[in-house]
Amino acid sequence: MSGRKVAIVTGGASGIGKAICNELASRNVFVVITDINETNGKRTEDELNKDGVYAKFICLDVTNEKMVRSVYSEIYSKYYRIDYIFNNAGFAMYGELYDMSIEHWEEIMDVNVWGVIYGTQFGYQLMKEQGWGYIVNTASAAGLGPSPLSAAYATTKHAVIGLTTSLHYEAENYGINVSTLCPTFVRTAAFDNAKAIKMDKLMMTNQLKKQKMMSPEKLATIAIDGVHKNKPIICPLPMRRTIDIMFSMFPFAHRMLMKLVCKVGREAKVTT
Ligand SMILES: NC(=O)c1ccc[n+]([C@@H]2O[C@H](COP(=O)([O-])OP(=O)(O)OC[C@H]3O[C@@H](n4cnc5c(N)ncnc54)[C@H](O)[C@@H]3O)[C@@H](O)[C@H]2O)c1
Repeated sequence: MSGRKVAIVTGGASGIGKAICNELASRNVFVVITDINETNGKRTEDELNKDGVYAKFICLDVTNEKMVRSVYSEIYSKYYRIDYIFNNAGFAMYGELYDMSIEHWEEIMDVNVWGVIYGTQFGYQLMKEQGWGYIVNTASAAGLGPSPLSAAYATTKHAVIGLTTSLHYEAENYGINVSTLCPTFVRTAAFDNAKAIKMDKLMMTNQLKKQKMMSPEKLATIAIDGVHKNKPIICPLPMRRTIDIMFSMFPFAHRMLMKLVCKVGREAKVTT
């Protein structure tokens, strides 16, 4: 292990997180895969260790502050370094705001916001002590503009972008690169794992799957290269610029687009 880089990836047992684990291992980084899904986590560990020692799985729920703190500090004490942290675990939630309860809000805020805060807070302190490191927090293009019928999800992803872009500048002084990853549509189980509130999830998923999807493998390469280039926002599609331009120059066109999103989304509404 000596001299080898070490990474922690949350939500590393599936989709984007798993592709990041694979890409890091292919670059000879030792990866600590963390996830709540033990079966997928162990499978990912076995796949990565087929031709050597590249990974270890730890069952970790990112909503558990004490557990996140102790896992991160145990890894640091054991390997004397943490080079990369990918705070990636998260899920999507669709629904009209009036159908949501406070419990729905708490559920998504716990994973998508508090999970990222814990990982960033504890990981950053350890990296500051060692004097280097790379942190990538997975947000979404939904964090860069409005997402009608996914307001809670958009709220969580805006929060991740606020946290991460602020820390990007704060951390530079200490030799730490911090980036937020803002994917748009990536071919993963995220659509099946999303929570739909009074919406027909299958119909919603089928509508979303009509979009052009990027492979998680391609996104993983973009994410790792992006944090090495110290980009504050890693956005694989020119979505951010498009949204900015539409907001400022074509508010009417943007409104039409948002109305269309509402109309299409509401076709999946369960009315009973
Ligand atoms: N797939 C996309 O199109 C897309 C687009 C934008 C943003 N994202 C974001 O990318 C990230 C990864 O999503 P994905 O597409 O790979 O989805 P995915 O469903 O394939 O993977 C998410 C992983 O997170 C794990 N997870 C969920 N809750 C957890 C918890 N409390 N603690 C630890 N692990 C937990 C799941 O078990 C799963 O393995 C998410 O934050 C998601 O919001 C995905």
